[in-house]
Amino acid sequence: MKHVEELTADKASLESYLKGQGWLQLNEKITALEIPGAGNMNFTIRVKTGERSFIVKQSREYVEKFPQVPAPSERALREAEFYQLVSNKSLLNEKMPKLIGVDKKNHVLNLEDLGHGVDYTFLYQKGEHIDEAELKQIMTFIANLHKAINTKTTDTRLPNRKMRKLNHEHIFIYPYLEDNGLNLDDVLPGLRAAGKPFKQDEALKKKVGKLGDRYLQDGNTLLHGDYFPGSWLKTNDGIKIIDPEFCFFGEVEFEIGVTLAHLKMADQPDKLVEKALRFYKDRSALNESLCKQFMAVEILRRILGLAQLPLSLDLEKRKELLNEAQSILIPE
Ligand SMILES: Nc1ncnc2c1ncn2[C@@H]1O[C@H](COP(=O)(O)OP(=O)(O)OP(=O)(O)O)[C@@H](O)[C@H]1O
Ligand SMILES: [Mg+2]
Repeated sequence: MKHVEELTADKASLESYLKGQGWLQLNEKITALEIPGAGNMNFTIRVKTGERSFIVKQSREYVEKFPQVPAPSERALREAEFYQLVSNKSLLNEKMPKLIGVDKKNHVLNLEDLGHGVDYTFLYQKGEHIDEAELKQIMTFIANLHKAINTKTTDTRLPNRKMRKLNHEHIFIYPYLEDNGLNLDDVLPGLRAAGKPFKQDEALKKKVGKLGDRYLQDGNTLLHGDYFPGSWLKTNDGIKIIDPEFCFFGEVEFEIGVTLAHLKMADQPDKLVEKALRFYKDRSALNESLCKQFMAVEILRRILGLAQLPLSLDLEKRKELLNEAQSILIPE
């Protein structure tokens, strides 16, 4: 088995690793190491020298925050492939960090530092609304991606099967298990009982299973794969898009459905959610009915599944969203 070097936040050993990669000059010293922002999956660190800074991101064979949970170790290489695919498309690459280097052996990316931005997960807080102009940029980026990179424009494929399998379990399977290891009452008292009817709804589960099969099929369009507020960064240089580790060629309706679901769970006004869809549809084609079905699935999984969000919705509002999701998937 090949030996993978596990990076740590130890200056001396990181310096020696970076010099070995040719990512630091031989006379260059690390002056500071920082955690650039909240992340769960990977080892992500900002390296500062006297002259510059950059971001180092390593994927391990486990989830960084939960080392007992295994994860596909080569996911950083899939993320690198995404950056390579957009590298000659200025509309896209100017809104993402530049990929400075890849260490394939150790699954490490060297990325441009976008500075001290914050991601848009603040939208889940009470009373926070996204600016319409910002929403337009976010939806325009994703429409541009879908239009620019698809099976008509490139012969490259990016199945990213292991990450898709992992995500499939989290989206389409775990939320519907009676016991998935998470007590929903620990998230919010009463949520366990509120979730029960959905976990027992056979018609709903069948429908979700079918959508899961679609998610696993290869589609025509390169998707970011995780297009939610945690992947949108507000920087001094405008909105940037990061973290395409779940990318694959799939159906655009999955991507946009996920985005809309998060706007709803962030309690954005209906008008804004409609605007998001409009911004997208004005630029690129989409089957709205399928999109709403994927939206419903994402709502169900984020409220009932393991990958919980810092939502500020009370129990009543969560129940409302679950019911809305159910009626989208199983119309009367
Ligand atoms: N190129 C960059 N420039 C500046 N900050 C960055 C950059 N890349 C990542 N960050 C910061 O680090 C955080 C974690 O990065 P990222 O989301 O890529 O890691 P992750 O481990 O995949 O996270 P998650 O578990 O949420 O998927 C981001 O939310 C952001 O704040
Ligand atoms: Mg990530």
